[in-house]
Amino acid sequence: MIALGIEGTAHTFGVGIVEDTTILANAKRMYAPPKGTGIHPALAAQHHQNAAAEVLETAIREAGVALDAIDVLAYAAGPGLPPCLKVTSDFAGALQQKTGKPLMAVNHCIAHIEIGRMLCGATDPIVMYVSGGNTQILGYSQERYRVFGETQDIAIGNAIDTFMRHATGEFPGGPPFDKLAAEGTTYVELPYIVKGMDLSFSGMLTAALRKHRQGASLADVCYSMQETAFAMLTEVTERALAHAGKNEVLVAGGVAASQRFNEMLRIMCSERGASCFSVSADYARDNGAMIAWTGLLAHRHGQQPVERADFFSRWRTDEVEVLWFPER
Ligand code: ATP
Ligand code: FE2
Repeated sequence: MIALGIEGTAHTFGVGIVEDTTILANAKRMYAPPKGTGIHPALAAQHHQNAAAEVLETAIREAGVALDAIDVLAYAAGPGLPPCLKVTSDFAGALQQKTGKPLMAVNHCIAHIEIGRMLCGATDPIVMYVSGGNTQILGYSQERYRVFGETQDIAIGNAIDTFMRHATGEFPGGPPFDKLAAEGTTYVELPYIVKGMDLSFSGMLTAALRKHRQGASLADVCYSMQETAFAMLTEVTERALAHAGKNEVLVAGGVAASQRFNEMLRIMCSERGASCFSVSADYARDNGAMIAWTGLLAHRHGQQPVERADFFSRWRTDEVEVLWFPER
């Protein structure tokens, strides 16, 4: 069975094509905001509008399949930025009209989990979903991915991006942040905020900006943010493993690219006899292949296609009944 998936919830517009567990294409284009600014929803939506037809064409060419050969269509229906979701769902609806194929509405967060389970071979992991817009600790229980813990304010990726935007003007901030953190030598004290299973990063961000203004070197502040934030996340992951009685960790989302975070999780997992999997960058970040694969799973397990391509900007992970689990 061949599925085509459309992603476009935030900065990336992507079209992926999968044939069962083989990824045939994963085309994408990313909206890059002007230096020194963050994502502007209307401009990102405009970017998607301009990119959509070309990205679709690239995916079809890459996959070497005709549009007629696609069995199922899928689109990311939320959560995300409403103007971006509108463009994505309209594009999906138009493709459904044109092809007459079933169209599956996919939850973006769940797609991050499912592509990770499929590619890494994890079965029933605690999922660390760490991206620019999300920080959640998830695990399967009774037909759903439950949120065991999450940020009470901003996401970890957002904290990193905001800090770097103020300090250097670069966006996304993750890669340069990583490089600077590796050069840091002196830890500057930052607030470590874990409340039960939840986390908070805004206090750490404010303190980091202040310390930098007061003269701490950029490398030292990045190093200190890295050590503080990833230790907080590792602590909560370990508690989730223990509470849920699971023995796998899967890291998904753009922040999965952080070497240091992976290192901390691996140490924690090896001490507990658990396995640690990290989704590779092309598939950890927003992409169409994850939407295609999740749509295919849902379709195969009897989830109903949608009649109209609506979107839900605040669609929560635990609102979705996961009919296909534990298949991957
Ligand atoms: P979502 O819509 O799921 O919240 P997103 O739109 O933020 O996702 P992703 O591509 O999943 O998009 O994640 C992007 C985030 O990952 C950015 O905040 C970026 O700074 C961060 N990031 C990328 N590389 C690294 C890295 N090496 N270390 C830390 N953070 C990174
Ligand atoms: Fe994402």
